[in-house]
Amino acid sequence: MARTLKLRAYAKVNLGLEVLGLRDDGYHELRTLFQTIDLHDDVVLRLQPRGVSVRCDHPLVPQDATNLAARAAEALRAYGRVPTGVAIEIRKRIPVGGGLGGGSSNAAAVLMGLDRLWRLGLGPDGLSRLARRLGADVPYFLLGGTALGLARGDEVYPLRRQLRAHVVLVDPGIHVSTARVFARLDTRLTPREKSNSIYYFVSRELEGSGAYRFLQNDLEEAALEEAPALREHAGRIRAVLLREGACLAALSGSGSNYFGLFENARPAQRACAALAAEGRTALVGRTLTLEQYRDAWGRARNR
Ligand code: C5P
Repeated sequence: MARTLKLRAYAKVNLGLEVLGLRDDGYHELRTLFQTIDLHDDVVLRLQPRGVSVRCDHPLVPQDATNLAARAAEALRAYGRVPTGVAIEIRKRIPVGGGLGGGSSNAAAVLMGLDRLWRLGLGPDGLSRLARRLGADVPYFLLGGTALGLARGDEVYPLRRQLRAHVVLVDPGIHVSTARVFARLDTRLTPREKSNSIYYFVSRELEGSGAYRFLQNDLEEAALEEAPALREHAGRIRAVLLREGACLAALSGSGSNYFGLFENARPAQRACAALAAEGRTALVGRTLTLEQYRDAWGRARNR
């Protein structure tokens, strides 16, 4: 029986995000478009006789039972009544507090990895309830690719048309708390039932006529208020991305990372170089489709 598994936990961006209102459970009703990108953390799972432990090379990531990946392992262990434990090792590449879902992705990778190592046979469907309890973004990472997120963002539907694009990711190096951005939003929330930007996008996209101009991120203004230093960067980053031909330049989730989406590699590389020349941390990557996400998962290595 395999005892060790090495896997990739990918980042996501939100191509669009609409906040529709406040829910009874204190969360917000969302409509969002998730997209996996190929930036990833490395997660190594090693079965051990007892207990869940976690190590991470990033100073802002907790290395105790509060770590979301450790909580995922603990939850699955209790659910599956598994007698053995696991040591989790995370090598971070996804910025922390950047709106890229790194913590949620790590947790989902742990669920899927341990489902395999512990031979529980739950699969993404069987894991989705546990995932939901861990965090609103975790269920999405059981699926990946281009997907619509409803309710708290935890009701996830893959889109038939999966995007293939080049992505420039810009990390202003500012840590933004998602909970605080949502809380700030509450003081100014107006009902948005009529907001349909993501639906416009999805229907136009199905016709194959790129409709990025419909997309918006309702968290951006609150994020810029929460992190005033980010505002100084936002305008310039967006301007460079658009100047170099991005079809979409937006904040991901509650920030702080901005991204640009490009149909071709060259302009994406030019944008990345221009941003780097200004002293910014930028990288070029690609989107992953649902199928590519599944393939990457299939290639996870036992050691
Ligand atoms: O679920 P997760 O712990 O990732 O969410 C972080 C915080 O973001 C929550 O504590 C909540 O304050 C806020 N949130 C929200 N509505 C959502 C998702 C997240 O208010 N749909």
